[in-house]
Amino acid sequence: MIEIISGISAILAFVLFILALKGLSSASTADKGNKYGMFGMVLAIISSFYFFNHTLIGNPFLLIAVFAIIIAGMIGFYIAKKIDMTSLPQLLAAFHSLVGLAAVFIACSIFCSPETFGIVLINGKLPIINTIEMSLGASIGAITFSGSIVAFGKLQGIISGKPIRYLGQNKINSGLGILILVMIYCFSIYQNTNLFSFIIFASFLIGYLLIIPIGGADMPVVISMLNSYSGWAAVGIGFSLEKDLLIIVGSLVGTSGAILSHIMCKGMNRSLLNVIFQSTSQNATITESGSSKGNVKICIPEDAGFIIKNANSVIIVPGYGMAVAQAQHAIKELADNLKSSGTSVKYAIHPVAGRMPGHMNVLLAEANIPYEDVFERDEINHEFGSTDVVIVIGANDITNPAAKSDPSSPIYGMPVLDVEKAKTVFFIKRSLGSGYAGIDNSLFYQNNTMMILGDAKKVSEELLKAIKDL
Ligand code: TAP
Repeated sequence: MIEIISGISAILAFVLFILALKGLSSASTADKGNKYGMFGMVLAIISSFYFFNHTLIGNPFLLIAVFAIIIAGMIGFYIAKKIDMTSLPQLLAAFHSLVGLAAVFIACSIFCSPETFGIVLINGKLPIINTIEMSLGASIGAITFSGSIVAFGKLQGIISGKPIRYLGQNKINSGLGILILVMIYCFSIYQNTNLFSFIIFASFLIGYLLIIPIGGADMPVVISMLNSYSGWAAVGIGFSLEKDLLIIVGSLVGTSGAILSHIMCKGMNRSLLNVIFQSTSQNATITESGSSKGNVKICIPEDAGFIIKNANSVIIVPGYGMAVAQAQHAIKELADNLKSSGTSVKYAIHPVAGRMPGHMNVLLAEANIPYEDVFERDEINHEFGSTDVVIVIGANDITNPAAKSDPSSPIYGMPVLDVEKAKTVFFIKRSLGSGYAGIDNSLFYQNNTMMILGDAKKVSEELLKAIKDL
């Protein structure tokens, strides 16, 4: 009976995780997807308890586990409620570090007490396949842990976001990687505690060494990659425990994280290897900005309001600054006002606008902006040429024409939004400063560009007031 309940819970959990992934693929269904995921996790936990065939009554360790799950769940709920949208990448990094550490702890527990996990020893030794799965799981888990801690530190500003490079970095990392694989092979034969400890400590080290040279701008890709690693660590441990649900869910996390990293890299026209081993952002921080200085037209919201009010078509291009200023509600009010007087208003979303995938979609959805008004870069790029006004709010790199015309630019090749083709372009930002790539934007000096300097939310509110007053 216990096995049947465990099996059914596991199958239901698996189906719910698939539905969760499907739901999360679109902003309109993301909320539902999240709920499926939460419910699936509850069933997965129930299934795990039955799997170990324990009863809660009389088992102090299981009671402690239940207590820990409740407390941890409450902490997770509290953090998720409190966290700012702009801090989500570092929150993910912190959570991944826990997944990695859990994989290391489970592998250590299996090694110390295999019988507890139902592993039958052969001549007093662990089956070779178990040692390989276990050490691979522990190694990937340790890499995920230390890499995620560095990523968290960089995004939180505890560690410098600049790439920290050292001599022979790629050779040292490759050498260490090969050494870990050799040690895993040796461990599968000798099953020695020192070898196992070495694998874990060397993996902690390589996780640190791999991520420390990567610049802050590439951290979202790194986090998605570490997300993928945490899934593969779970797969390794799932094989050791013969726990199908862990293998399946680990594979889902592993592949979805890898696909997401690929999508992000594609959005920046970079390869994953380039992000990990070369870090273009390093060049970006070294590159001196300010190569294309010229005349800048700075205008006040009252003047901009007049032009915007008289436009037939407006495209709004949101970026990281809109997220920082939390200007999405103010910009929606502005758009609603324009639409009520017959102006066509659309939103153009670049795949890497902001600091994480779907960052802008989430913000716009939060402000109840209709999905049918929101367009991806490929869908809307051809419309800029026939648009009267483009309002770029807190975005920079994703509009920079240097990506198309300057082969020496660190963002050269990244597909950008062709905002310069519109009749008038308004940039709402606080200064003429650069974006994340650390480079100047020649658009600020173009004839049809006007800068409205100030905080995105404040300027949006002033623009709305100016338009209402006309
Ligand atoms: P950025 O190029 O970083 O530009 C954001 C601009 O917002 C800044 O120039 C800043 O200018 C302005 N800003 C900041 N706070 C503001 C505020 N309170 N009010 C008004 N403006 C404010 O952003 P983007 O155009 O969204 O491009 C994203 C960048 O991140 C790209 O380089 C992309 O490659 C990188 N990246 C993104 C991802 C994902 S998945 N999204 C992943 C990896 C890398 P001021 O300081 O002058 O105000």
